[in-house]
Amino acid sequence: LRVFRVLRAAPFPLIAAPRPYTLSARTPRPTKETSSQMIVTIDGPAGSGKSSLAKRVAKALRWMYLDTGATYRAVAYQAQRQGLDIHQPEELDRLCRTLDLDFQWADNGDLRVIVDGADVSDAIRTEQISSFASRVATLPQVRNAMVDKQRQLAAQFDNVVTEGRDQGTVVFPHAQLKIFLDASVEERAKRRQLQLEQSGQPADYDQILQAIRQRDNQDSTRATAPLVAAEDAVKLDTTNLTLDQVETKVLELIQAKRSSRP
Ligand code: DC
Repeated sequence: LRVFRVLRAAPFPLIAAPRPYTLSARTPRPTKETSSQMIVTIDGPAGSGKSSLAKRVAKALRWMYLDTGATYRAVAYQAQRQGLDIHQPEELDRLCRTLDLDFQWADNGDLRVIVDGADVSDAIRTEQISSFASRVATLPQVRNAMVDKQRQLAAQFDNVVTEGRDQGTVVFPHAQLKIFLDASVEERAKRRQLQLEQSGQPADYDQILQAIRQRDNQDSTRATAPLVAAEDAVKLDTTNLTLDQVETKVLELIQAKRSSRP
């Protein structure tokens, strides 16, 4: 088991009030010219297949896999337990700065998420937390804290495949390869239904479809780091593709990038 400590009373700068999000220069980022690190970003809406793809690619190449949605889910989970809502940005900021969050990756690529020493990996995957995480993720305070953590974490590894909504646009704008995955909303709802059924949770297709539409809307219309494809991202529509096909395509793209590097 590979264990990495992500957040423990991290020294985040105190942000008192909501402010427009700007790409911060606080964390030095490696650039293509100065680093041998390779970062591949995978962004896209809920159910587009980002997590499955990122896990597979990381496993095939033995790279580090970063599930950035899990960081927002962990914040939402803990906020809910503390009875906080999104109208309390200062309390959420404090929560982000003191959150005790660990990621543990098993060798098969499975990620366990540990909050305050408890394994919350399943608890953060409910529909309720999905929706709350999407709302919490609209707050600049929360995003600043999570973006810093994501960069710090990635900086510890030579090669990283990271997935989320803003990885290619905001968190790693210098990534060597950016993928933007998409699929029809109906197909994404079907996939989510299957996922929930497999994990023994209730799964009503119409409700899921509605929840995904709402989340798409929230994620792509928020003022701070909305879900949008980076200009230099390779766009892949996975509606009619199997995971194997998408994986093969992305491994080819990575290989091409690697062989074109000096
Ligand atoms: O990928 P996911 O469904 O686990 O993400 C949960 C929520 O977190 C999602 O609705 C939007 C938010 N999120 C984000 O805003 N930025 C990211 N990089 C990852 C997730």
